[in-house]
Amino acid sequence: MRSKLVAGNWKMHGGTAQNQDLLRAIVAGTADLRGADFTVCVPYPYLSQAQTLLRDTHIRWGAQNVSQHDKGAYTGEVSAVMLMDFGCHYVIVGHSERRALYGEDSDTVALKFQAAQVAGLIPILCVGETLDQREADVTEQVVAAQLDAVIELAGVDALVKSILAYEPVWAIGTGKTATPGQAQDVHAFIRARIAAHSPKVAAGLQILYGGSVKANNAEELFAMTDIDGGLVGGASLVADEFVAICRAAKN
Ligand code: 13P
Repeated sequence: MRSKLVAGNWKMHGGTAQNQDLLRAIVAGTADLRGADFTVCVPYPYLSQAQTLLRDTHIRWGAQNVSQHDKGAYTGEVSAVMLMDFGCHYVIVGHSERRALYGEDSDTVALKFQAAQVAGLIPILCVGETLDQREADVTEQVVAAQLDAVIELAGVDALVKSILAYEPVWAIGTGKTATPGQAQDVHAFIRARIAAHSPKVAAGLQILYGGSVKANNAEELFAMTDIDGGLVGGASLVADEFVAICRAAKN
């Protein structure tokens, strides 16, 4: 049986004072929950704060991006080893905002995935289609290509120490959630594609859904067979909402 994971993706939001309130409220609000994992992926400058406030708690923390290089003349980049230095457990790779706004292609994402694992981080690999692609009925091809780039570079066994997140681009920040059925269909497709390489890896892999997950829709999404939790943007910035989503993962 796969356990559930709820990951907050703060994106480019936060500030020292508000982070402190938010993190404390999340720790307190989830203290009685067992059997599911919770994490926050914060902007780089707040990793130290997350480490200080979360180190003795059940909440893990991580980053939202990582360099594919291990060190060198890469101005503005942050390596996986540096993230480990701040106690990160996870790092998001291949978020659609990075693919669309910063030109990250699937080959670069695969390199980042690998760099994260080499340093000991668990990559949270994001895949998902745009609205145009869904309407053109190529969702499965798009998601398959994004996934295959990682499998080709790192091998299917590398997925054992990773998390997948299906995030339909049209559902991100739009308030337009995929229906539980729509999400389940793609999650099942992803799992079947991995099972074609290794049924064992596929069965154990946590696949999160992301895209307008809120307190009022989390439970029905998390009830689906192949949905193992959520990657949460906007609602992860509001303590009560995020705590309620964590509680839905526990139910
Ligand atoms: P929202 O929850 O704000 O739609 O964002 C989803 C997301 O992109 C998480 O990575």
